[in-house]
Amino acid sequence: DTVDWDPEETGKSGYDHYMLKEIHEQPRSLRQCLSERVDELAGTVDIDDLADLNPRGVQFVACGTSYHAALYGAELFQQAGIPAQAFLASEYASSPPPIGDALVIGVTQSGETADTLSALREADRRGARTLGVTNVVGSTVARECDHVFYIRAGPEIGVAATKTFASQLAALNLLALGMAGGDDTRELIGALRDLPGQVQEVLDESGARAVAETYLESDAYFFIGRGLNFPVALEGALKMKEITYKHAEGFAAGELKHGPLALVTDQTPVFAVVTGDGEQARKTIGNVKEVEARDAPVIAVTDGQSDVERYADHVLRVPETHPRTAAVLANVQLQLVSYHTAAELGRSIDKPRNLAKSVTVE
Ligand code: G6P
Repeated sequence: DTVDWDPEETGKSGYDHYMLKEIHEQPRSLRQCLSERVDELAGTVDIDDLADLNPRGVQFVACGTSYHAALYGAELFQQAGIPAQAFLASEYASSPPPIGDALVIGVTQSGETADTLSALREADRRGARTLGVTNVVGSTVARECDHVFYIRAGPEIGVAATKTFASQLAALNLLALGMAGGDDTRELIGALRDLPGQVQEVLDESGARAVAETYLESDAYFFIGRGLNFPVALEGALKMKEITYKHAEGFAAGELKHGPLALVTDQTPVFAVVTGDGEQARKTIGNVKEVEARDAPVIAVTDGQSDVERYADHVLRVPETHPRTAAVLANVQLQLVSYHTAAELGRSIDKPRNLAKSVTVE
């Protein structure tokens, strides 16, 4: 007797796609990223000798999903009082900004992306110190940079990045804490510790599939967010484009009124990422009202702290957490919306047309 055994199928551990498997692996990959790097009792993080880098400025270079992580990382350093900017690696490589004595951080899952490598090599030529934040041990970026920090997400097969994005965000929190400190280090460390369990809660209770089914016929999807939720909006839209082939755009919530609002109709579902109940939430709710007035369906991705749900047609809830870690939870909801939309449409989810997992040409 023989048993048909397809290694590709077996690798999916019962999931229909690698992407879904990898979305569900996030609690584990986050734990791996944090393991032995946070000391909860002492309220400290351990990033080895990287803690001594003492950057007076930071320039991030990255592409695609990693660029969205870089935008998030730049915001973390800014919050700690260190000037920081994120650049698209392809732009940086051809017209690099003045570097001064900035630390240049390349964020790249594969460690092989040609644009990111070129940007890091240019930074190196100009005398900058370089740090690679990557998933792949021994990758070109890991070998060429002065320093390396591994996100430890484990292998990612799906072309669309999912668990590696979550681990990039966690890793960038560790780097920002370790290099720049912060006022509420203990709270953030507690939130990072709770994050894997909270991601599991989102996975167990998500209503993303029903939302995906409701808006399957839409031709365009908008995503809005402010501050740390702006990169989440961009990433939500990128995931949607990559695997559903539908038009999707992410915007800084405040920019909607400066043009994109002209596109909003009752046929444009708008995903609003609103966490906390501060100034940013209040302003984004203002933008939600603007699209609601144009009869756009609103899907609030929220922790329930603000009253955004009053203006929403659907709510995708995430547990309450630290303002920084909320982005990770909100992103899981958006991953699931894109996944279920693509699955319903019968798309080639793990290998979308025209895309490659790692792009080694400029
Ligand atoms: C490709 C992939 C994207 C990825 C980007 C950057 O375009 O399709 O999913 O975000 O490269 O990859 P990296 O390995 O540098 O993070």
